[in-house]
Amino acid sequence: MDKLVITGPNTLSGEVRVSASKNATLPILAASILFPQKIVFNHLPKLSDIKFFLEILKSLGAELQGDLERQVIESQTITHTVADYDLVRKMRASILVLGPLLSRFKKAKVSLPGGCAIGSRPVDIHLTGLEQMGAEISIEKGYVVATTQGLKGAEISLAFPSVGATENLMMAAVWAKGKTVIKNAAREPEIEDLANFLNQFGTTIEGAGSETIVIEGREIEDYQKSDKSDYQIIGDRIEASTYLIAALMTKSKVRVSGVNPKHLRSVLDLLREMGAKFSEGEDYIETERFSHNLKGVEVETAPYPGFPTDVQAQVMTLMGISQGNSLVSEHIFENRFMHVPELVRMGMDIRLEGKKAYIKGVEHLSCAPVMCTDLRASAALVLAALVAEGESHINRIYHLDRGYENLEQKLHQLGAKVKRVKA
Ligand code: EPZ
Repeated sequence: MDKLVITGPNTLSGEVRVSASKNATLPILAASILFPQKIVFNHLPKLSDIKFFLEILKSLGAELQGDLERQVIESQTITHTVADYDLVRKMRASILVLGPLLSRFKKAKVSLPGGCAIGSRPVDIHLTGLEQMGAEISIEKGYVVATTQGLKGAEISLAFPSVGATENLMMAAVWAKGKTVIKNAAREPEIEDLANFLNQFGTTIEGAGSETIVIEGREIEDYQKSDKSDYQIIGDRIEASTYLIAALMTKSKVRVSGVNPKHLRSVLDLLREMGAKFSEGEDYIETERFSHNLKGVEVETAPYPGFPTDVQAQVMTLMGISQGNSLVSEHIFENRFMHVPELVRMGMDIRLEGKKAYIKGVEHLSCAPVMCTDLRASAALVLAALVAEGESHINRIYHLDRGYENLEQKLHQLGAKVKRVKA
């Protein structure tokens, strides 16, 4: 298993370009199941989650050619409608094949994803919505078994604006008879990106990005192949937020490009509240160099456009070396503080009480051997190691490889003393 060795402290400079969004790419790859044709994707992010999802599509019968730089997916050959446990258990997002399989083939058997490091992460909102669209669903030996005579449009109010449930139901609605209205829908930019992808194949989806999404279903028999391909997936707002925080941790001037600043408005607002200054362009954000310390603030994670839970660990790390007290409340997942014990071992002063983390800013961090536990917690450890004095060894970085393409190269290019070694 590889590890990262980071020698701090560091000053960064220059420009880093983020990759295509992992959390937009996954549902868009799932959506390729809906359209029995060849679809071409360019510049897919080189992430283990993406490679893994392509394996799932292959297990369903899709023919893949090329590589992530130019990925050709032939979806006509998909005939299998079972997503096996040994594949699904490794990645929760695999549940996103359920809606498209059910919509196109009128049946699907997908292993329940099970929990993961950050929480139980059930799929009840997905299943309730599909049942309202005419699916018969049972849970058999750890699998969701779904069949239908043909999905029908329905008016669905989500109990919680679940990102995955919104995406699954949007995809299910494509070949459902009639109109589907999803209320209390998730509003993340990745939802809008999925809708834009679906609409280029003749689907009619309106309202994506708002709390009410309307999908006009069609008959798959009327489907006309289209040569629309090479869809440009949005830049990764979470990766962008992570690099901006790396710049602020090291008080550096760095340009983060390839992302729409509007997609991380709540992150930029909070960082500005801490005293950070940015300049923005159409597809970049640039930090200004500074010498004083930023100041502590309070933040609560919330569904988009609120502060994203996927940036909670990273901003807590910045708070850990800012002036004064900060408070982080995590409202989306029940166990998303696993970065805290490792940050404390590097010298941070953080106390947990249920969903709340109380942080007191400290002047210095010390290097340490640390262990990654989940994707975004791992990013927090990298950020801390950038400023900690000495050589930090970050173990189990396969967690990082799930969501950060070429992390060590991108940090090295910004001037960080970082290397990947075989552990
Ligand atoms: C997506 O996960 C993202 N993953 C997550 O990013 C992100 O943290 C999350 O949305 C919230 O923004 C992808 O897009 C692939 P949810 P998802 O359904 O869809 C509960 C990362 O780091 N819930 O919005 O699984 C659930 O337990 C990953 O890139 C139900 O109770 O998130 C959780 O507490 C981590 N029942 C909350 O809702 C359901 O049926 C949010 O879940 C569905 C969800």
